[in-house]
Formats: sequence, structure tokens, C-alpha cells
Amino acid sequence: MASSIFFSPAANAVTVAIPTPTPTPTPRLVLVRANNASASATATAATPTPRLVLVRANNASASASASGPTLTLEECEAAAVAGNFPAPPPHSKPPGPKGTPLIKPLDLTRRPRRNRKSPTLRSAFQETTLSPANFVLPLFIHEGEEDAPIGAMPGCFRLGWRHGLIDEVYKARDVGVNSFVLFPKIPDALKSPTGDESYNDNGLVPRTIRLLKDKFPDIVIYTDVALDPYSSDGHDGIVREDGVIMNDETIHQLCKQAVSQARAGADVVSPSDMMDGRVGALRAALDAEGFHDVSIMSYTAKYASAFYGPFREALDSNPRFGDKKTYQMNPANYREALIEAQADEAEGADILLVKPGLPYTDVIRLLRDNSALPIAAYQVSGEYSMIKAAGVLKMIDEERVMMESLMCIRRAGADIILSYFARQAAGILCGAKSN
Ligand code: PBG
Repeated sequence: MASSIFFSPAANAVTVAIPTPTPTPTPRLVLVRANNASASATATAATPTPRLVLVRANNASASASASGPTLTLEECEAAAVAGNFPAPPPHSKPPGPKGTPLIKPLDLTRRPRRNRKSPTLRSAFQETTLSPANFVLPLFIHEGEEDAPIGAMPGCFRLGWRHGLIDEVYKARDVGVNSFVLFPKIPDALKSPTGDESYNDNGLVPRTIRLLKDKFPDIVIYTDVALDPYSSDGHDGIVREDGVIMNDETIHQLCKQAVSQARAGADVVSPSDMMDGRVGALRAALDAEGFHDVSIMSYTAKYASAFYGPFREALDSNPRFGDKKTYQMNPANYREALIEAQADEAEGADILLVKPGLPYTDVIRLLRDNSALPIAAYQVSGEYSMIKAAGVLKMIDEERVMMESLMCIRRAGADIILSYFARQAAGILCGAKSN
């Protein structure tokens, strides 16, 4: 910040103006400008646009410095003491359009618009910022060699773990996104009621983590901890015959899954299953295997939301029956998020996540105000697809709505945002495209 003030255009203008071709030691350029400007301003007093005068003043100063000095500092000071001030360029407010009522201005103490009147003031007082460092990019991977487009999520693909994925990570890093979360599309033949493929050390996720860490050692890899991609029932946990999702038995599997991901090199494991007590159990399992430095990002307030629809299409992970309402939260509930947050914090979570994002900004703010932990928000598939679809139909400006939605999630209190827009938005923030 300090250096940007030092090298501001204004500071440069002063240093450039002092060394002129003439040997006179006084920095008269500034005064010369004023004198000449005033002369030309009076000569052209009839000119309607005051901007013209400014242009002339610049030209005048340029020619003055080329043709040598006019007045010394002493002469200028004497003129000022005598009350003989050079006239500044005239400054006038343009009138309103014809028919504008002539009124007596309101007697207002506060006019908040004063602080919004120019781009410089607006950016000086901006309270929230958005940076590629805040983004985590979710990536869908599959066993194939080719990338397969996801119909319900324009611009997203099931990426070939060996090629397409590497390419995507490379491009994301190019615009400053260094954090990724992996979601695997598992072949049906590997799915089972107990989701045992989830802790196969040679499975798609651990294998991909090893490859990514080998190619890009400095990236941060988040993983998803839940059984749904591996469950033949499409649920996040083991389903009992009567349809009950078994809590503690599921956690036993999740611990093996998280340890397998940690062994492969995951930096942050992220339980998205909403079983009770999983954070504490995962912490203990990781520590028992020596993974004390692997973080846990807990999906603290994950709602049973219709906004996950496109994601479930992407992974073919729709529940085969029923819904997820016995473990994911009721969208009508707010206070309940505090119960989840307190449990996760007590059990040792490093990051608390709210999901979905934009429709749940009140919950993001609730956790922000009730925990000192970093808060994450997940702008989920449905939020992404709605903006994309409305953009394609030219009902909204896709880019501007994208940036605004991300900013609003930050304003609500999220430190990081998991978003399918991460690369596109970071590109704009890096100036790849104008905002
Ligand atoms: C499942 C999981 C889901 C998402 C992330 N992890 C779907 C679900 O709970 O059914 C949704 C992400 C999205 O919609 O973008 N563990």
C-alpha cells in the first residue's frame, strides 16, 4: 500500500516536472502553467465547455517549458501578495435537462451519496474484496481418457483424471486458483451398499491425489468424505433394510475413507455426510495414523436442498429411493445450524462450511458471528446452472451476476468459496477479461 502511494501517477508528475531543459533552479513549471492557462482561459472565455480550457492549459505548459521561463518564484509570490492571482480554469456544474424544477436544496446532514460519487472514492470505501485466493474449484473426475460434458452444468466436465484434469488444474493455477476439491464418478460395478470402494488406496480419488501432488506439489487438495459416489443406494451412509441411514457404522467407513485420502496426500478432508459425531471420529482416526497436519473442513450446515440436482446428475449419485432429510438439515431451520457448529468446533473442525451458498447467506453470517474458525461456503451446482442458463438466454449478464453472487457470499462472512465459477471469476479478477 505504501509503495503504491509513492509511485502514484500524481507523485510521478511532480518528479517529472522539476528537471526541465532550462537551467533555472526554481520549479516554476506549475506556476507557468497557471499563468498561461489563465491567459488563454480569458482569451477564450466564451468557449462553452470548461474541459477545453484544461486541454489548452496542458498544451500551454508544454510550450512554455520548451520556450523557457516567464516569471521567477519571487515575481510570482510578489504578484500573489499584491492580490494579483492567476485565475484557475473555470469550474461550473452543467445544468439539468430542460424542465428540471428549480428548488431549494434539502437541508440534509447526511448525504451518503457523497461517498459514492467517483470510482476512486467508491473503491477507497469498498468493505469486501474478492480474490482468487478465496476460491476452491470443485472438479469432477472419472476413469475415462476423454472429458465428458455435464449436461446440466454448462462449461463443466467429468474430467479424465490423467489428462483433462491436469489441464484444468494448470489453467486454474494460471489465474491464481490453487485449491481444488475432487468429486469422483465411480463405475456402477464398484458401488456397493457399504461403499467399500471409498477407501481403496488405488481407487480413483487417492490415485488422482498422488498424480496431482506429483505434478503440482504446492496446490491444496480438499477431498469429499461421504459414501454417496460409492453407494449403490446413492446415500451418504449405509442404508438399513428399513431405510434408516446408519450413523455410527457409516462413520466407521468414513474414517477409513479419510485416512486413505490423507495417505494419498490430501491436505483437507471434508465430511459432507452430516452424520453425528463424524468430525471427532475423523480427527481421532487421522491422528492415530499420524496425519496430525491434515485439516478437517466440516460441512457444518448442509441443507437438504434441491439446488444439488445438477451435481447428482454429474455423478449419477441420486438417491435410489427416499431423500436425504434424515441427515441433511431442513431448509427452514436457522438456530439448528448453531447446534451443528458448536459440535463441529468442539470435535476439532478446522473450517466450518455452509451449503448451499447464496440462498443461505443468513446462515453464513450466523456462523461467522458465532465462531472464530474460518468459514467456507459452497455455491452449489444449482446456483451455478441457474446463472449459466439465464445468461445463455440473455435474461441476465452472466459475468456480472457471477461476480456479484460471489461478492455477496464473501460479504455474508465466508472466507473461502467453493464454486464452479472459480476459474472464470479468477480470470476476471486477474484482468484476463474486463469486469
Ligand atoms: C454429497 C455431496 C453433494 C454435493 C457435494 N457433496 C450432493 C448431495 O449431498 O446430495 C453437492 C454439490 C453441488 O450441488 O454442487 N456428499
